[in-house]
Amino acid sequence: MDKLNIMGIVGSLRKDSYNHFALKAAQALLPDDAVLNLVSLHGIPVFNQDDEMSPPTAVLEFKRKILAADAILFATPEYNYSLPGGLKNVIDWASRPYGENAWQGKPSAIMGASIGNFGIARAQYDLRKILVALDMPVVIQPEIMIGNAAQKFDIDGTLTDEPTRQLIRKLLVSLLNLEKSTRHAIGG
Ligand SMILES: Cc1cc2nc3c(=O)[nH]c(=O)nc-3n(C[C@H](O)[C@H](O)[C@H](O)COP(=O)(O)O)c2cc1C
Repeated sequence: MDKLNIMGIVGSLRKDSYNHFALKAAQALLPDDAVLNLVSLHGIPVFNQDDEMSPPTAVLEFKRKILAADAILFATPEYNYSLPGGLKNVIDWASRPYGENAWQGKPSAIMGASIGNFGIARAQYDLRKILVALDMPVVIQPEIMIGNAAQKFDIDGTLTDEPTRQLIRKLLVSLLNLEKSTRHAIGG
């Protein structure tokens, strides 16, 4: 049987991004029947509706990966109390043109890391609101808000905080269950 193909999208382009490290941790914690392929936002230009009928190659490639995925896992920082513009930008591209929303129906889950104490919640709730517009089923619990990230990853970017590792395991199982129930609901 083919393994379930999860697409992991990191909202940060930073080389040593904690959110990228969180997705690497998820790769290692994933059940055997699934793979998590990480996709970066590098090279995606700013959305221009004039180009939505003939998008740039990088956007077409990104959309192709979404369509090929069984589920989506977002890991994003919070920038100024919301999600980073780069992530919103790629969400907008892949939702267009009207009637060709690549996100529609894709089971999804959200996690995120911040260097602050209370960061992330505002970005995650903004992202959840956007997923409603995109018509994406999303895992409700657990919510993974990794505060004080600098204390939870070691110098090599390995997630060392055991409670967070447990939460990520739970989130992945919930995402796989959501994918299964969504597939059954549409008769797949
Ligand atoms: C433009 C900008 C805005 C930020 N705003 C917030 C914020 O609103 N809340 C927060 O918790 N952290 C904020 N931060 C700090 C991020 O939590 C921190 O840079 C984090 O490491 C970014 O995630 P990354 O490691 O995956 O790149 C901000 C950082 C930047 C660059």
